[in-house]
Amino acid sequence: MAEIGKDIEKAKQLLEERDLVAIPTETVYGLAGNALDAEAVALIFETKNRPSFDPLILHTSSIERVEDFVESFPEKLKMLAENFWPGPLTLLLPRKPIVPDLVTSGLDRVAVRVPKHPLTLALLESLDFPLAAPSANPFGYISPTAPAHVAAQLGEKIPYILDGGACEVGLESTIVGLEEDEIVVYRLGGLEVSEIEKIVGPVIIKDHSSSNPQAPGLLESHYAPRKPFILGDLRQLIAENIEAKSNFAVLSYSDYFPGILPGNQIALSPNKNLHEAAKNLFAAMRKLDEGNSAVILAELMPEVGLGRAINDRLRRAAVK
Ligand code: TXA
Ligand code: MG
Repeated sequence: MAEIGKDIEKAKQLLEERDLVAIPTETVYGLAGNALDAEAVALIFETKNRPSFDPLILHTSSIERVEDFVESFPEKLKMLAENFWPGPLTLLLPRKPIVPDLVTSGLDRVAVRVPKHPLTLALLESLDFPLAAPSANPFGYISPTAPAHVAAQLGEKIPYILDGGACEVGLESTIVGLEEDEIVVYRLGGLEVSEIEKIVGPVIIKDHSSSNPQAPGLLESHYAPRKPFILGDLRQLIAENIEAKSNFAVLSYSDYFPGILPGNQIALSPNKNLHEAAKNLFAAMRKLDEGNSAVILAELMPEVGLGRAINDRLRRAAVK
């Protein structure tokens, strides 16, 4: 079983020995290995049970260090990096040959980000290589936002979980790249589109519903609980499920519904704060998935700000 602790030196030693370590970030926990060592990267895919056509994000500690791994850093993207790193933003940049094919799944761009977490930044500073880190969950399941989430699913397979507490943002990073000088958002995430637009003007959003060869990993069914996850109007869904005598749980934005056991319902933010809802989302989905209900009934958030990224995750959880 993985040890859980705050020992950066221990994490560093394991990573230098080609082992994997779960690391905290502000978005979700990552399953990290030496990004420049194809064997360590292969172990990440194997441990997560992830198909090799789904490329990984390279994590480093500063804009300056990014230059070691990319051929160029277009001005518009650099402005975003300067404004939002460290933070929940991933940039797609032309890769240098030093980045193994396995990291990018053979694509000519590499995804890079500087995460915002003091422990992980200190770890990255101390290493002389960047870390490849997908979310630290088995492929297709809900991303982990606390050390216990990682331990529950990957604890048998990895030696160490660096304990940075609960993730502040709770949604994966927003993925951005350039297509013919236009800024394109490939994955909605913890950095709001409106924040990006304040710096670079209007952007194009290519979400998972459009066919998207640039991000083959953005598969439709993702972030999925094991139980049926049904999205719709909660009052109606609850009435139908009571009628059918089904054993259900409820995931709402802010409301609690009468007559449902407290353990079977979670409101993501009783005060209707989308940041709070984002932070609570994945832990709530896990808790209800582990509970004794047969199905989870859920509703969409307002389609504004972080609500768009939350709704993207909810819709994917509902795809079966
Ligand atoms: O917040 C995050 O981004 C977290 C933390 C750990 O940093 N990481 C994360 O990694 O969410 P992962 O592997 O679960 O999701 C990364 C996504 C994949 O769906 C993949 O398709 C896309 O990034 N991606 C990675 N490299 C890419 C590339 N070269 N071109 C296009 N898409 C890429
Ligand atoms: Mg993931």
